[in-house]
Amino acid sequence: MASYDVIVIGSGPGGYVCAIRCAQLGLKTACVEGRETLGGTCLNVGCIPSKALLHASHMLHEAEHNFTRMGLKGKSPSVDWKEMLAYKDDVIGQNTKGIEFLFKKNKVDWIKGWATVPGAGKVKVGDEIHEAKNIVIASGSEASSLPGVEIDEKVVVTSTGALDLPKIPKKMVVIGAGVIGLEMGSVYARLGTEVTVVEYLDQITPGMDGEVCKTFQRMLKKQGLNFIMGAAVQGVEPLKTKAKVNYKLRKDDSEATIDADVVLVATGRKPFTDGLGLDALGVETEERGQIRTDSHWATNVPGIHAIGDAITGPMLAHKAEDEGMAVAEVIAGKAGHVNYGVIPSVIYTHPEVAAVGKTEEQLKEEGRAFKVGKFSFMGNGRAKAVFSGDGFVKILADKQSDRILGAHIIGPAAGDLIHEVCVAMEFGAAAQDLALTCHAHPTYSEAVREAALACGDGAIHA
Ligand code: NAI
Repeated sequence: MASYDVIVIGSGPGGYVCAIRCAQLGLKTACVEGRETLGGTCLNVGCIPSKALLHASHMLHEAEHNFTRMGLKGKSPSVDWKEMLAYKDDVIGQNTKGIEFLFKKNKVDWIKGWATVPGAGKVKVGDEIHEAKNIVIASGSEASSLPGVEIDEKVVVTSTGALDLPKIPKKMVVIGAGVIGLEMGSVYARLGTEVTVVEYLDQITPGMDGEVCKTFQRMLKKQGLNFIMGAAVQGVEPLKTKAKVNYKLRKDDSEATIDADVVLVATGRKPFTDGLGLDALGVETEERGQIRTDSHWATNVPGIHAIGDAITGPMLAHKAEDEGMAVAEVIAGKAGHVNYGVIPSVIYTHPEVAAVGKTEEQLKEEGRAFKVGKFSFMGNGRAKAVFSGDGFVKILADKQSDRILGAHIIGPAAGDLIHEVCVAMEFGAAAQDLALTCHAHPTYSEAVREAALACGDGAIHA
């Protein structure tokens, strides 16, 4: 039995970052992880592997569609799926080993196995009980399925199965036009799969800015993705090596069926807290199973904290990381803080989609007076040089004070561009502050400045 200041349960982006920060702040720290490797869903079966496959399939798309336009002639590359998966696995390995190295460097003990919490101050792993003054639950989330849909991770898969299919399917049905569905759907569409996305709502990526959603769907359609919108999936019938997806159109209740070699269920995720023994401890949860915490990530049971996908808020790795750092500071007696108003979200398709702050729809609902500065990448020389003129930057600012309230980008490197707006928002900047900042030419970031200029006297290249 060992005794710690902090035991973190789960080594995903929330947990491992929390453990490292705790150790850096002088707390004796351990992190419990039951997987073979550290890094949680994000590094093993989520963010990182999907980015490897998005990159590889994007390269193929570039070779097939844009090389000849630049005078690069010759045969397009063919896909060796096994090698592509091996490349992805290598990327995973480098990242998960990286965390192991960081744990050693920072003197965080990795307790291998699945944890239960038999009582406040106690963490049981296997037959051993470890003592901890503080416990941080960072156990993450798991895919949530639909009634009538049984996941086998072979024909009916979650994102985990979709990252490791034995072969590239001819036909894939994606249930849910959210982030996972569109990222993985893009990968397979680029690899030659006929992809059909079935979505309950009339708009893809619910919650994103409406104008961005429309542009995004148009672009994805151009890339070959098919959409069946306003369709509630009723069930999936497995047929040995295929499956039938039954859905009902919401507008007229008509029923239809579509078959596929692989069905990807991407209808959201739910907190993964089973088996921790939290019920017996009396840890309170929210309606949808999230652990209830106060503004310092403390549960109702003294000494037990929770962060990341296991609590409320957007299920994003970077939100979990920020909470991990902040709760470590709180435990160490410092002032940990997360600004939930400035958490960017990014969809890593091509082009990328990124957002921070409020959408136009939210501001209208709040009855807030705001102005819109918009700039198309068509007016950005760098974007045009690389066939990326489709898309725009939109900045929303308070009508009176000019303070930035939100930004929405669809276009090249949107996921990186969004961060200058995040920094500006953290500093309470006005759109004019961005507009007056010199931006290097020729860069995509000039489009952000132009959108900021459009909030004032007007963009130059529009
Ligand atoms: P999501 O919540 O983003 O999207 C689920 C979609 O499924 C919604 O559009 C919903 O309307 C639809 N849906 C639900 N029931 C349906 C039914 N019966 N028939 C048809 N459509 C139905 O969930 P997703 O994509 O599974 O992602 C899960 C979580 O992981 C999200 O919180 C997401 O933010 C996060 N994530 C983030 C990534 C990123 O930041 N790039 C990448 C991957 C996941």
